[in-house]
Amino acid sequence: MTMTLKGLLLTTSLAACLSACGEEPSTPTPSEPEPQGQAASAETAEAPMVNPENWPKITSPVDRDPAIEEEAARLLASMSLEEKVGQIIQPDIASITPEEAGAYHIGSVLNGGNSAPKGELRGDPGDWVALADAFWRASTGEDGSGIPLLWGTDAVHGHSNIVGATIFPHNIGLGAANDPELMRRIGEITAKEIAVTGLDWTFAPTLAVPQDDRWGRTYEGYSEDPAIVASFARPLVEGLQGRANTDEFLAPGRVLSTAKHFVGDGGTRGGTDQGETVATEEELRDIHVAGYVPALEAGVQTAMASFSSWNGRKMHGYKELLTDVLVGQMGLDGFVVGDWNGHGQVAGCEATDCPQALLAGVDMYMAPDSWKGLYESTLRHVEEGTIPMERLDEAVLRILRVKLRMGLMERGLPSERPFAGELDLLGSDEHRAVAREAVAKSLVLLKNEGGVLPIRPRQRVLITGDGANDMGKQTGGWTLSWQGDGNSREDFPNADTIFEGLEGAIGASGGEAYLDEMPEGEEPDLAVVVFGEDPYAEFRGDRPNLDFTPEEPQARMRALKEAGIPVVAVFLSGRPLWTNPEINASDAFVAAWLPGSEGGGVADVLVAGEDGEPRADFTGRLSFSWPKRPDQFRLNPQDEDYDPLFALGYGLSYGEEGTVGTLPEDYETSESDSNTLIADGAPGAGGELVLLSGGGERRITDAVAETPNGALRLSRTDRYAQEDSLRLVWDGSATARLVLRAEERDLRREANADIGLSVTYRYDEASEAEASVGVGGASFPLPMGEAGGFETFQARLTCFADEGGDLSALTDLMAIESQGPLSLTVYEVGLAPSEGGAPCPGQ
Ligand code: BGC
Ligand code: BGC
Repeated sequence: MTMTLKGLLLTTSLAACLSACGEEPSTPTPSEPEPQGQAASAETAEAPMVNPENWPKITSPVDRDPAIEEEAARLLASMSLEEKVGQIIQPDIASITPEEAGAYHIGSVLNGGNSAPKGELRGDPGDWVALADAFWRASTGEDGSGIPLLWGTDAVHGHSNIVGATIFPHNIGLGAANDPELMRRIGEITAKEIAVTGLDWTFAPTLAVPQDDRWGRTYEGYSEDPAIVASFARPLVEGLQGRANTDEFLAPGRVLSTAKHFVGDGGTRGGTDQGETVATEEELRDIHVAGYVPALEAGVQTAMASFSSWNGRKMHGYKELLTDVLVGQMGLDGFVVGDWNGHGQVAGCEATDCPQALLAGVDMYMAPDSWKGLYESTLRHVEEGTIPMERLDEAVLRILRVKLRMGLMERGLPSERPFAGELDLLGSDEHRAVAREAVAKSLVLLKNEGGVLPIRPRQRVLITGDGANDMGKQTGGWTLSWQGDGNSREDFPNADTIFEGLEGAIGASGGEAYLDEMPEGEEPDLAVVVFGEDPYAEFRGDRPNLDFTPEEPQARMRALKEAGIPVVAVFLSGRPLWTNPEINASDAFVAAWLPGSEGGGVADVLVAGEDGEPRADFTGRLSFSWPKRPDQFRLNPQDEDYDPLFALGYGLSYGEEGTVGTLPEDYETSESDSNTLIADGAPGAGGELVLLSGGGERRITDAVAETPNGALRLSRTDRYAQEDSLRLVWDGSATARLVLRAEERDLRREANADIGLSVTYRYDEASEAEASVGVGGASFPLPMGEAGGFETFQARLTCFADEGGDLSALTDLMAIESQGPLSLTVYEVGLAPSEGGAPCPGQ
């Protein structure tokens, strides 16, 4: 039994999902001989041996400067244990004050995607400089002798947390632009705008090689093709940090760069964010590590551990890969930073307690809100010897070395450094021109029937669609807010929407542009419909399939076509999506990705000059394959049965035959959404409903079911539609519960991001007894309001964890329990974003 289980685990994790095997490798094939002494649980399973010698051997180009080495050693020797521990912990500015940072000798802070000075995501850029000063003063102390802290930020497409900054296309668009040298200029500009706000470090570039486009972070990757990712890494890192061993390296106006997320973030099963990477050691090396090679050769100073796991082990605890491969073999000579409480997901760890991650090779913990508990437990672990002093010293030394290399000790107050406070540099004309060039180069023309593009002089053009004049939609996630939601036109003082760009260019060639409607009784010569995905980030963007579902855009396009108006579709998206109906409904189709602040770049290519000739050609080429069917999730050129609609590298130029023909539109997708637990009277998340009581259980296959002891009976009932709700009746004879049982899931990442459980229910009649809802063994009562009315109960998953719930390996995703007697109707149960910091039930 154990044998088979082991064999199966190994095979599943090793199975090369090279192809559009699409989904989980299903049938186990004979596996390799097992290593000795292997535990039979996925979390503790020993990975197949990683042989560092199979990985690229890299020597950092950054020379070890004896003066720096001496100074770092001197500093280290002068530090107390408390100072050392503080040095390796990185809180979020939303959870720590400058005073606390000083008191705890904190070595670094970050602003997460939803954190900003004064808590104002759309505040004054000057506040950033002021807060940077406050942190610097606190860390260097009264006499200025302390070690300044580093402030890291997600400047992932320009300095994208700052109002007025230049917002470049997200990486997927840059991948299509395929101009590596442009990346150097983008890196330089981003670094300079970061310097304006007094910060030191960006968590970029993302070097993921996304293999499954259901992944919500697909757009953060340049390409599904490792070679394209690799070609971008060096120029971007050099743009940010300056070239190693030259005067520009980490000079004023340059910032530290981070290669992230090491390693395999783009290879997870099902495209699930923070999931399990499906790859052999060779694939991990040849696909997922490709971008790290040039980044390390360029002297990237930090790398971020990935949330994902490989062979059932979380990367934050993967010593063989972090220490032996990344640092030992591949020569990272700065330091390894963890990801947002990522250490807390290592087996046996909590966000506030995790020696394992440090021992595995994480040098700096990203501990946004968990920093204080982590500081205390880490101190204790060093005192007790769980963490050897040598390992702590090594981590501190690596951080000090980087600080000394960038001259942090002499840089002085952030506001007094070169470029600091020069707010005019944010979104300056010169910077925006480079972003605009990037936008123009990133556009990929997929169809141009009858040469409808370019837009000719003196045409009257209707510009419409919900993306036409929407800054939020064209900039996407990781822009001002984490998810990129809640942004409006006013939040982008230095920018053009796509409509504004088109309007200017069409006007310049003697035409007229109209937003959304034509003057009474007039018809346009041409319509441009701009539409696509709404902003998202990380796992909130994970989706069950690649079907672009909103009906409105295709209906709008069809109506225009039926009226005899040629239609140009401009599609905004963070990944290729199945858009056959939209392609059919348009004459020309442009994949514009998430272009950022410069809508003018779209117009530069779409609108001809006065002479009718294009002002710029389409040079963008697909860096991701475009699906022919909505279930082609894992669609990559190395697949044996590679069958895309448009292959990697595809893209038309002006003058090329752009006919696509009529594409089939009739695919059904049946993937269930993993966040719906109960809806329409049925189980969600691919699971099943089970009733349990007194040691007996009953799976629910019929409309009516009962526990073996009769204590709980389930039937269906109507709220809005026939049988859209479950009725649960406890007779009062024994404790009994309903559970949703599904494939094992780790809900800690959802907990991390304030995802909550929500239950919509009704007590059918007043009763003494109450029901409770539980996750991972902890539960809260479902409050009884007025009997007869529906209520919605919500609690963050962290509330369950705080009550002792274990979210790490759930097969029963939630339970509704009571002793009764009572009758409860359950309409919906799901996982949904909840407000950060909302109080837990009963508080
Ligand atoms: C993301 C990282 C990011 C970090 C800080 C994490 O959730 O995975 O890419 O750098 O948060 O915002
Ligand atoms: C933060 C992000 C972070 C995410 C991860 C958010 O609240 O703002 O920076 O990446 O949580 O869970």
